[in-house]
Amino acid sequence: MKEDLKIGIIGVGNIGSAHAAAISRGDVKGMTLSALCDNNPKRREEIRALYPDIPVFEDADALLASGLAEAVIVATPHYFHPPIAQKAFAAGLHVLTEKPAGVYCLAVREMMRSAKESGKAFGVMFNQRTNTLFRKAREIVSSGELGELKRVVWIITNWYRKQSYYDSGSWRATWSGEGGGVLINQAPHNLDILQWICGMPCAIYAKCDGGKYHQIEVDDDVSLFARYENGATAVFLTSTGEYPGTNRLEIAGTKGKLVVENGKLTHTKLAMDEREYRYSEESVQNKLTITEYAEEKRNGHIAILENFAAHILRGEALIASGYEAIHELTISNAAYLSAWLGKEIVLPMDDALFETMLRERADAEKSHIRTETRERVQFAYKSRWDTQWT
Ligand SMILES: NC(=O)c1ccc[n+]([C@@H]2O[C@H](COP(=O)([O-])OP(=O)(O)OC[C@H]3O[C@@H](n4cnc5c(N)ncnc54)[C@H](O)[C@@H]3O)[C@@H](O)[C@H]2O)c1
Repeated sequence: MKEDLKIGIIGVGNIGSAHAAAISRGDVKGMTLSALCDNNPKRREEIRALYPDIPVFEDADALLASGLAEAVIVATPHYFHPPIAQKAFAAGLHVLTEKPAGVYCLAVREMMRSAKESGKAFGVMFNQRTNTLFRKAREIVSSGELGELKRVVWIITNWYRKQSYYDSGSWRATWSGEGGGVLINQAPHNLDILQWICGMPCAIYAKCDGGKYHQIEVDDDVSLFARYENGATAVFLTSTGEYPGTNRLEIAGTKGKLVVENGKLTHTKLAMDEREYRYSEESVQNKLTITEYAEEKRNGHIAILENFAAHILRGEALIASGYEAIHELTISNAAYLSAWLGKEIVLPMDDALFETMLRERADAEKSHIRTETRERVQFAYKSRWDTQWT
């Protein structure tokens, strides 16, 4: 049996330091922390103090060339995920990228090409895919038990953030540093789950309100409308400015309905498919069977890390393949493009147009620099990174 996977982390901020802490504590089966990298000198000092036995590098190239790691976690701001991952693949390392895989699809497609050419493992930190309720919902929908998809409504407004969150990093909530707001930072988890359970829509219309509740230029309130090939529709509402927020996913099919809310999945099953029932005799009762599933709590980040290691060490199937990360990003890019152009975007979209319009926004805000007000602390995994039901 091969020993643990030697893992390096590039970008040791909030989430990178949480991964580093979990791995170094021995909480992640199959992984040993072997190298760290951060391009911020102050951060490197802090990391060296915390991990005196782990080599700390000042740039990704140096870590990749060191030969100390067989795989890397890329936990920098999103724009750097594709270029760093590509270098890692070229150097013969496996890559687990943080979400979103990148900011725009063209860059992520290049990342996918590099991954494929290298033949190395490519994973993405979509930790909510380990949530037992979403897994059950996916199983029910893909088995055909829910029938044909009719409608999805996801109100996911419990991503509340204070202004201090946005002020905690100059890259945050800018077009040039982050590439968007709630849609590119928080909502990728939910957009991924949406497409993972229900498949990809064929058209997107969205309204993305920038700086509605915070002093930021990018979106903190989004209303998205999606159409599917079979005529089904989805409404996806998300915000970082609503408190208290809601997290309710409702999926209606011809054979019943799924509702995920407050740590519970409720499956209401029809005795007869509604498409047949509508023509049935009046006396026929379409009986309902209700089944409830409670969430089995687990740490999604650790589950994804362990699965990534098991994939490389023992060939276990990836829970979140990096090649699938393009799907949620496509929905997100299409939503921005729709809001900018004021029209519905039919998929596949014009990726080059999106990149051009994103760059225009990034160039226009070059003078926009926010001061970092927060002292960095060593983060543990916090519940705010898990699914929030209340
Ligand atoms: N999966 C999750 O639940 C989850 C949670 C939080 C953040 N994230 C993702 O992780 C990424 C980082 O977010 P964060 O909140 O940790 O940000 P952060 O700003 O706290 O940390 C980023 C770190 O990367 C370093 N860095 C920046 N550019 C670099 C480069 N080119 N090379 C090396 N280091 C570099 C910074 O100095 C900083 O320490 C984002 O893409 C974010 O979306 C995911």
